[in-house]
Amino acid sequence: MTKQRCLMIGVGGMARHWIHNVWRTFSDRMEFAGLVDINQAALYETADTLGVSRTHCFTNMAEAFEKVDADFCCIVTPPQFHADAVKLACARGMDILSEKPISDTWEGCVEIYQAVQKAGVKMLVTQNYRYTPRILTLKKAVQSLGAINYAVCRYAADYRKPLAWGAAFRHEMRHSLMVEASVHHFDQLRNLTGGDCLTLSGYEWHPGQIRGDDAKYAGSNSFKGETNGMFVMQFNTGSVGSYEGNNLATGKQNSWHSEYYRIECEGGTVVLDADHVVRIEERTSQGTLSVREVPTERPQYEGHYAMGAQMLDWLEGGEAPATVVSDNIKSNAMLFAAIEAAATNSVVNVQAMVEAATKA
Ligand SMILES: NC(=O)c1ccc[n+]([C@@H]2O[C@H](COP(=O)([O-])OP(=O)(O)OC[C@H]3O[C@@H](n4cnc5c(N)ncnc54)[C@H](O)[C@@H]3O)[C@@H](O)[C@H]2O)c1
Repeated sequence: MTKQRCLMIGVGGMARHWIHNVWRTFSDRMEFAGLVDINQAALYETADTLGVSRTHCFTNMAEAFEKVDADFCCIVTPPQFHADAVKLACARGMDILSEKPISDTWEGCVEIYQAVQKAGVKMLVTQNYRYTPRILTLKKAVQSLGAINYAVCRYAADYRKPLAWGAAFRHEMRHSLMVEASVHHFDQLRNLTGGDCLTLSGYEWHPGQIRGDDAKYAGSNSFKGETNGMFVMQFNTGSVGSYEGNNLATGKQNSWHSEYYRIECEGGTVVLDADHVVRIEERTSQGTLSVREVPTERPQYEGHYAMGAQMLDWLEGGEAPATVVSDNIKSNAMLFAAIEAAATNSVVNVQAMVEAATKA
């Protein structure tokens, strides 16, 4: 089998997982055609580990896209650099696998969507959380219980110390909860309800700044931007969703891979909490509550591995995966609608945003 040649954009942070775990797993199906990172030391260290020649290493992505012959690029830079990489890939007719979010602004998302449509290239957006055992199990349970009335999601992490959330940019940028975290949860609410968001409203805030001084809310000074969000939304399937996001959680944690979900369905309620056990709650004919545990799904590939497998399958002629850019823009629209809803204290028409962005 001919190997798919990958131009890797970014070698630090999450890219390390892609390079050293995910792509290593698929080394019989892909190889590195080039590496890019503005951090030259990290770039060379990665290249040496992988046996990639220094002539295929670049600190400037434009030069890399000009010189490297690759089948696809894998973009794992901070979100504000995704649009540049996508536009360069489109100019070369190169297929794209990009980390979420599509971009750090709605304008960037729309620009990326339109560039990809115009160039006719493939673009898959990483939504690895859809493919974890706990979420696959939750979704299967939900699908066995008929129509969904409403879905609740809680994400709560204690990032009150500087750099607690991995990279500095997340503590320094505006809207980091929305752009770096909630995009996963909004995507999950679409995934679980099987619906697209119609409208969304709610609040995004920083509990120190809202009181006029970081000192008035302990721990809030670890972030320059908004740390919290509470939103409600309607889906086109008749379901309603609610979302609680907290990066300053002082109590129970529902952090990464431990988020709380409760889906109220006509045939019962499904609950998933930090213990990772999916439980179905039902009322017996006598009116008592019965709770049963659902056996955990075990897919061949989980999380990021599933995304890597989907991309390679697609490049090799398989079907387009669920989170292609033309679909995932609907999840990204929700996070920018949330930012707008909070800024304008209004209900935002998410469906209209997507229609305007994707009209030919
Ligand atoms: N799907 C997930 O579970 C998950 C988890 C973490 C991060 N991410 C996503 O991965 C992306 C990167 O986040 P991260 O945590 O790895 O960030 P990071 O800051 O830890 O690493 C980013 C890397 O990109 C490099 N870089 C920055 N600007 C660049 C540019 N213009 N050209 C080339 N290289 C550049 C940096 O030097 C660094 O090595 C983001 O989109 C983030 O949302 C996804």
